[in-house]
Amino acid sequence: MSKIIELIKKIPKAELHLHIEGTLEPDLLFKLAKRNDIRIPFANVNEVKSAYNFSNLESFLNIFYQGSKVLITEQDFFDLAWAYTLKCKEDNVVHAEIFFDPQTHVNRGINFDVVINGIYKALLKANKEFGLTSKIIMCFLRHLDEASAFEILDQALVHKDKIVGVGLDSSEIGHPPRKFERVFNKAIAKGFLTVAHAGEEGPSKYIWEALDLLKVKRIDHGVQCFHDEKLVVKLRNDQIPLTVCPLSNVKLCVFEKLEDHNLKRLLDKGLMVIVNSDDPAYFGGYLNRNMIDCQKALNLSMEDVKKLTVNSFKSSFLNIDKKKKWIDQINNLS
Ligand code: ADE
Ligand code: ZN
Repeated sequence: MSKIIELIKKIPKAELHLHIEGTLEPDLLFKLAKRNDIRIPFANVNEVKSAYNFSNLESFLNIFYQGSKVLITEQDFFDLAWAYTLKCKEDNVVHAEIFFDPQTHVNRGINFDVVINGIYKALLKANKEFGLTSKIIMCFLRHLDEASAFEILDQALVHKDKIVGVGLDSSEIGHPPRKFERVFNKAIAKGFLTVAHAGEEGPSKYIWEALDLLKVKRIDHGVQCFHDEKLVVKLRNDQIPLTVCPLSNVKLCVFEKLEDHNLKRLLDKGLMVIVNSDDPAYFGGYLNRNMIDCQKALNLSMEDVKKLTVNSFKSSFLNIDKKKKWIDQINNLS
């Protein structure tokens, strides 16, 4: 194994853009469908995998929301999140900030408590057993209206101790951040941190809105910023984190191939970029696979790899001491 691949594998990493529903691997999908007696439109794992050919975000989301329907009980959510924590252990991800989409579940009759408790208990177990630290971020579905987001925010308030922030995901184009300005203001007033998907497929204007109106601490994706020089300058000057998801971007045809991805160009311009896996069960790989494939396609150096992982801790919602502990460890690696 080359030295740089070794480095990618062993370096401690934080993952900041990961949808827990997007870690539903085909074998768990089948297991849960059977356990809950739910029909899925696939005969076997191979059929599932060949359905994972997407032309854009919308074509992915259709399959993604279908898959989520096998999640019914607290045990299901526990099993899903536990399986992801084992991937973290394998990849040396030592800290994970995890999205979940409560409206996807509550709107089909699953209690909010069932969802959050299953995820939370798995994360607690992973912390006890192998020291993984984590935070949970609840995303509003932007294709639904703001009233629905207000309702789910009310339900989240009793779980404030388990949820660090709110985010915004689902179909981007036609659903600008400004649609959610009031509910984000309420979330901020209640003490939640904010993040939002912006500039994945949508225009750079949506990134401005996420910053100015939703007061986000990070932009999820943000790769469309490149079309707006003023925005690039702002992102660099303010060191706004962009949680970039390279394999996701290729699978959803944001870039034709990994070699075309702007990750390295953004990094070289001094932007605060981080590599993440988004929905790894659907996009072909967890965090190490994303980093290794990017290293090869974009010719990332050892220094780039270190920078990306330092950025992941700097941009996390960990406290200063914990950030420093991991960053010092990375800087001491040979
Ligand atoms: N939900 C899950 N994955 C997503 C993505 N890449 N963009 C928007 N919403 C999502
Ligand atoms: Zn995402």
